Amino acid sequence: MKLKELSLNDLNAELFIEKKVSEIDSIVGKGIAVNALSGGVDSAVVTMLAHKALGDRLKSFFIDSGLMRKGEPEQIRLWFAELGITVEIIDSGEAFFAALKGKTDPEEKRDAITETFYKDVFGKIVKDSGARYLLQGTNYTDVEETVAGIKRQHNILEQLGIDPEERFGYKILEPLIELRKPAIRMVGKATGLHPKLYLRPPFPGPALAARVIGEVTPERVAMVRVATEILEKQLASTTAFQYLAILHEDRVTGVRNGKRDFGYQIELRCWESEDAITASPTRIPHETLEHLADDITSLVPGVVSVTYNITKKPPSTIEAV
Ligand code: XMP
Repeated sequence: MKLKELSLNDLNAELFIEKKVSEIDSIVGKGIAVNALSGGVDSAVVTMLAHKALGDRLKSFFIDSGLMRKGEPEQIRLWFAELGITVEIIDSGEAFFAALKGKTDPEEKRDAITETFYKDVFGKIVKDSGARYLLQGTNYTDVEETVAGIKRQHNILEQLGIDPEERFGYKILEPLIELRKPAIRMVGKATGLHPKLYLRPPFPGPALAARVIGEVTPERVAMVRVATEILEKQLASTTAFQYLAILHEDRVTGVRNGKRDFGYQIELRCWESEDAITASPTRIPHETLEHLADDITSLVPGVVSVTYNITKKPPSTIEAV
């Protein structure tokens, strides 16, 4: 791989910010650039860098793909409003669900999300705004895993030989591409981002679709969304790297009100990790796991089984799709 990592030890966050701000400024010139927030750390840090470079010439969007966590679009809009950055929410759930309809293969689902995001949704935004650049928070781990063929991260294009200008009509700038998560958090802190944002657990670009095995429908995403809300509330005070709920495709026999209930299964994962390259499951107290199982089986309709993943990465990955 041609790209070289800038490690946490070698990073001088202030100098890095100065350099990236000046690069963005000179590349975009007097034009306009756009960027999308996903609720994750990386896109939040990119927004700060690009806002420092471009001010109002940066147009920030939150693409509400219908795959987001409960209340997320509005929460992000409010957090950035506190920093004087306007974020426009684009409601595009219909386009994403139409593209995902009938798809069960993980790579096909990732492809459908990539195409809808870059071509349909951003293609239109870029055209309407007159922008020529999209800024995004691709990081070193995303590139490494995609190039290694582990998982095609939704935001990787050029490393796969895709020319975004030719394919979608705009250029992509990736100021964080040499950094891994701990370094990105350090840059985020130095940009003035609030800890509630730069210390957030990572959240993938394909959002809850990365946590639905099989077809991604509004109903199935709604189930994962409720389970995610329960899990995130109960684990909020932990120091885990990331935690998530996954909806499985297979159903199992359960019993409710004395009758068979052939219901759904939710798998919970909670990870200890530095940089998402390797990870091990958090030793969550059994009592907490039991509370989670009780709450999820009573609040997520149709769920009769909750499991906790005890596998390390590798051979597991952090997300399930
Ligand atoms: P995996 O599942 O590959 O995840 O072990 C490693 C880290 O990357 C996040 N992730 C993604 N982030 N686009 C992203 O922006 C993606 O397509 C994507 N897939 C996984 C994941 O949440 C974890 O932190």
